[in-house]
Amino acid sequence: MTKPLLLHTTITTLVLISSLTTVLSSTFTLTNQCTYPIWTGLLSGAGTAPLPTTGFPLQPSQSNAVEIPPGWSGRIWGRTLCSTDATGRFSCVTGDCGSGTVECNGAGAAPPTTLAEFTLNGANGMDFYDVSLVDGYNLPMTVLPQGGTGGCNITGCFTDLNLNCPSELRLTGASDGGGSVACRSACEAFADPKYCCSGAYSTPQTCSPSSYSRYFKTACPTAYSYAYDDGTSTFTCSNANYVVTFCPTPANSRKTTGLDQSTQDNGSGSLAKDFNMVIAFILMIVLRL
Ligand SMILES: *[C@@H]1O[C@H](CO)[C@@H](O)[C@H](O)[C@H]1NC(C)=O
Ligand SMILES: *[C@@H]1O[C@H](CO)[C@@H](O)[C@H](O)[C@H]1NC(C)=O
Repeated sequence: MTKPLLLHTTITTLVLISSLTTVLSSTFTLTNQCTYPIWTGLLSGAGTAPLPTTGFPLQPSQSNAVEIPPGWSGRIWGRTLCSTDATGRFSCVTGDCGSGTVECNGAGAAPPTTLAEFTLNGANGMDFYDVSLVDGYNLPMTVLPQGGTGGCNITGCFTDLNLNCPSELRLTGASDGGGSVACRSACEAFADPKYCCSGAYSTPQTCSPSSYSRYFKTACPTAYSYAYDDGTSTFTCSNANYVVTFCPTPANSRKTTGLDQSTQDNGSGSLAKDFNMVIAFILMIVLRL
């Protein structure tokens, strides 16, 4: 092999690798700003790559970063009031996934649970994300994209809905002194097609917001409050990393945003960016030869 050909092959390979890395994983940072411990839950959608973890504890003020594969879709939530019983079975009063262990192992959250929903690298390569109260609410939660391009708005719910949850929707936990630990959706509480957008109410035209869904929407304007709340509740961003915060405060989210401006990478996911920089560096050396 002559030297120019070798050089050409090397450059072609590097450019190819570099372009592949633009759809590398993104980093999701899960942060607990609640005054109590939570146990995260992560569920991959059918046919998407499994994650390195499906659930872990977060103490107050603790964060944990998870590498999320490209094209991933799924849900992330927080479980509260968890414990292990005498037989070694792990369970939670809210957000329980029924696995009996801290890892959810492919099981979803029992309602009522606040859910962060993601479809990464969807139409036009965009990430779609939302925070949903369609299956009820258990704790405040936001999704904040970082370093992406496009809309990339923060979404979710800062408000503690448990405090003023309508009594007919209230879920109380004995371990919480009988206080409200979660707020059910009207669909779950009454199993009425009118609230569930099912049966005769299964289209956006026939299923309207109810006084119950309006309670959620007023308190959390960017979150899904019922099944056909798409217009104001789905957000997009491209090539971003995401911070999922449990019990965010508006002040804290500003602080997070401010903090991130110094550490944030503008553009693709951190891994992709580092990789591209390494490739560029190698390319520079090769071209000088
Ligand atoms: C995103 O935030 C901006 C600025 O607050 C706002 O003008 C815009 O309407 C928001 N986009 C969506 C889709 O809500
Ligand atoms: C990139 O990030 C730096 C901070 O690290 C910021 O000052 C700059 O405005 C950002 N540039 C773009 C294009 O977002």
